[in-house]
Amino acid sequence: MSQQPNVLLLGPPGAGKGTQSANVADEYDIPHVTTGDALRANKDMETEHGTPRSFMEAGELVPDPVVNEIVAEALGDEGYVLDGYPRNEEQVAYLADITTLDAVCLLSVSESELVDRLTGRRVCDECGANYHVEFDQPAEEGVCDECGGELIQREDDTEDTVRERLRVYHETTEPVVEHYREAGVLQEIDGEQAPDAVWDDLRATIDETV
Ligand code: AP5
Ligand code: MG
Ligand code: ZN
Repeated sequence: MSQQPNVLLLGPPGAGKGTQSANVADEYDIPHVTTGDALRANKDMETEHGTPRSFMEAGELVPDPVVNEIVAEALGDEGYVLDGYPRNEEQVAYLADITTLDAVCLLSVSESELVDRLTGRRVCDECGANYHVEFDQPAEEGVCDECGGELIQREDDTEDTVRERLRVYHETTEPVVEHYREAGVLQEIDGEQAPDAVWDDLRATIDETV
């Protein structure tokens, strides 16, 4: 297997892309490239299309030129795990122009479970680590195990915005999944298992594929 693979993780909001990307980045010693985190760190950045915040808080996609530039700058040539991109056909085409994927993995989770995961998610304000009020509690309530930072709720994790994000996923991002399925490169993983079991399957899949 090549030491540092180019891995794409696909899946609906709340499927566990961020949670599992942390494992992938650790295991293969590659950077975690995620448009969501990059946009959250630059929410009020002025672009000719407006600020990312307005789109994100409504659960809508941020315009392609903004996210394409983030990805083009972040993908190096020493492997990566990419999470949250591409989300529409235009982004698929852009990505194909700038890199070659070694593994494309889809985390599948049912809709009702997704809503529970997202509305219960808490994230570290400092380092971005993910927790859940029921499924993945920190040692001390409200405090990050990794860095001691404060755990907060994402602004787009309210039930209404979660439903809109899921709607956008079905309409715009499911065709992306179908694109990779038709190309014969999609590996599907049962994302509804416990996090460790998902990771066992994901690691085995990456090891077999690259
Ligand atoms: P983004 O940040 O990418 O959000 P998302 O795709 O909606 O996915 P999430 O981060 O919500 O879920 P996740 O799959 O990472 O799940 P997690 O591991 O946290 O994007 C946000 C916004 O940015 C978009 O709406 C859009 O506006 C914009 N944007 C981003 N990329 C863009 C692009 N390319 N183009 C245009 N706009 C873009 O897990 C969720 C919860 O479940 C956690 O609490 C976790 O602890 C728990 N959990 C995880 N795994 C398990 C398990 N196996 N069992 C039980 N609980 C689990
Ligand atoms: Mg995420
Ligand atoms: Zn932290």
